[in-house]
Amino acid sequence: MTAVRIFALSDLHVDNLPNRKWVEQLSRQDYREDLLIIAGDVSDDLTMLERIFRQLRERFARLAFVPGNHELWIRQNRFTHSLEKWERVQEVCQQNGVLVKPFKIGEGDSHPVWVVPLFSWYIRPEEGEGSLFLPKPGEDQSLRMWADNYYIRWPFAGNGAEAARYFLRMNETTLKQSYDAPVISFSHFLPRQELMFPPNFDPTEARKRDRYPSFNFSRVAGCIQLERQIRLLGSLVHIYGHQHRNRHRLLEGVHYLSHCLGYPAERENGQIEGIEQGPRLVWDTSRGFAAL
Ligand SMILES: [Fe+2]
Repeated sequence: MTAVRIFALSDLHVDNLPNRKWVEQLSRQDYREDLLIIAGDVSDDLTMLERIFRQLRERFARLAFVPGNHELWIRQNRFTHSLEKWERVQEVCQQNGVLVKPFKIGEGDSHPVWVVPLFSWYIRPEEGEGSLFLPKPGEDQSLRMWADNYYIRWPFAGNGAEAARYFLRMNETTLKQSYDAPVISFSHFLPRQELMFPPNFDPTEARKRDRYPSFNFSRVAGCIQLERQIRLLGSLVHIYGHQHRNRHRLLEGVHYLSHCLGYPAERENGQIEGIEQGPRLVWDTSRGFAAL
């Protein structure tokens, strides 16, 4: 039996031509037995999303996906709200054989593993409990430059906290399931504040290099409730996206991994590193955890 490798990738943002080219140049031979986990933000354009799924399916045996905030953007009038679009994204996944539910991989190998998608949203500090917010001097509290303010539309009177509850509730069946092998979970949003920073974070240095001093990402990073679900699940590895920073942190026994393609400018100016070799290897069903 051939061992299966599991790779991680997020924030493909293929509306940018260099990112589409990056996907096209991925080997058609190297990943033929393998699984690619895509932790959201491929494109808000569903035709483009489908096209990228097809291209990746030509390279990987399997794809697993959770939508990011960009997939829920409404820029045309085809959808009345973002949950309607979420349903359509699920259909696109189904039609293209993209996995959106827990599944076991490597049965019969020495290191089988469960791959478990977790849905979520972010909670802003003013919206309710569970925000990952940390104050930042001089920030624009209204987040005028945050595009979700203009392109995300919820059908309920509530706000992001309501959306977070809605998506986290979807995970309840997943949490009740029993898992007889290690779990690799994945989400688009962040589950913990620490993940926003590298282990040796120097706030003074970070302020000097801050390209958007008025933008406070922690307002829209994720929610703590997602972390609680990861702990209930007992994940060994959790893959996430959204921040456009590539990290690996081991916190209280869980390996948190982010491997984003991000925007071309972020790669050029060194904010995103390590993507040249392609998606990040996380697991090998003949060897186990492989991301060290
Ligand atoms: Fe995102």
